[in-house]
Amino acid sequence: MKIDDAIKVVEPFLTKKRFEHTIRVKDTAVLLAERYNVSQSKAELSAIFHDYCKYRSLEEMKRIIKESSLPKDLLQYHHELWHGPVASILIEREYGIRNRDIQQAIYYHTTGRANMSNLDMVLFLADYMEPGRDFPGVTQVREMAEKDLVRACWMASKNTITFLMHKNSRIYPDTFYAYNDLTLRINGGNGINGD
Ligand SMILES: [Fe+2]
Ligand SMILES: [Fe+2]
Repeated sequence: MKIDDAIKVVEPFLTKKRFEHTIRVKDTAVLLAERYNVSQSKAELSAIFHDYCKYRSLEEMKRIIKESSLPKDLLQYHHELWHGPVASILIEREYGIRNRDIQQAIYYHTTGRANMSNLDMVLFLADYMEPGRDFPGVTQVREMAEKDLVRACWMASKNTITFLMHKNSRIYPDTFYAYNDLTLRINGGNGINGD
């Protein structure tokens, strides 16, 4: 699907604020993709569709999780975690976007996962640090994203876990798998400072 068509497809499904966020995620993803040798068209398309299902009804998302191959334990966690996996299925069903790399990046954009591809990391980071985001730690992640994709992703993952723990939220296992795996990739599992 052409990028302009994709933008036209998603816009009616999003609020104005979310649509603007989506465009900023796309622009950020393109910059990161250039920097880290990721396919620009895959980064762009996955960014445009990443929040496609954000405003689907809970009933519809629940139904799709139940009837598809998606893991059922999603239903035991906050519904904020559902829109990525559900979108990875619906973009194929509704628009024939059947591309494993794109579908995976969208699927895991909220939690991350172990063994994230560069495309996964580009979308995860773009969603975290697009210029409209303003929360503690985001500036440092933006700076790190200029030079080290894995480390920037690790920082974002760590900040997310810390934030969720402060809210006493439950944390989906993939979020921890992402953090553990990124930690290992940075320093062979010996701790970030080697201690
Ligand atoms: Fe999202
Ligand atoms: Fe998003």
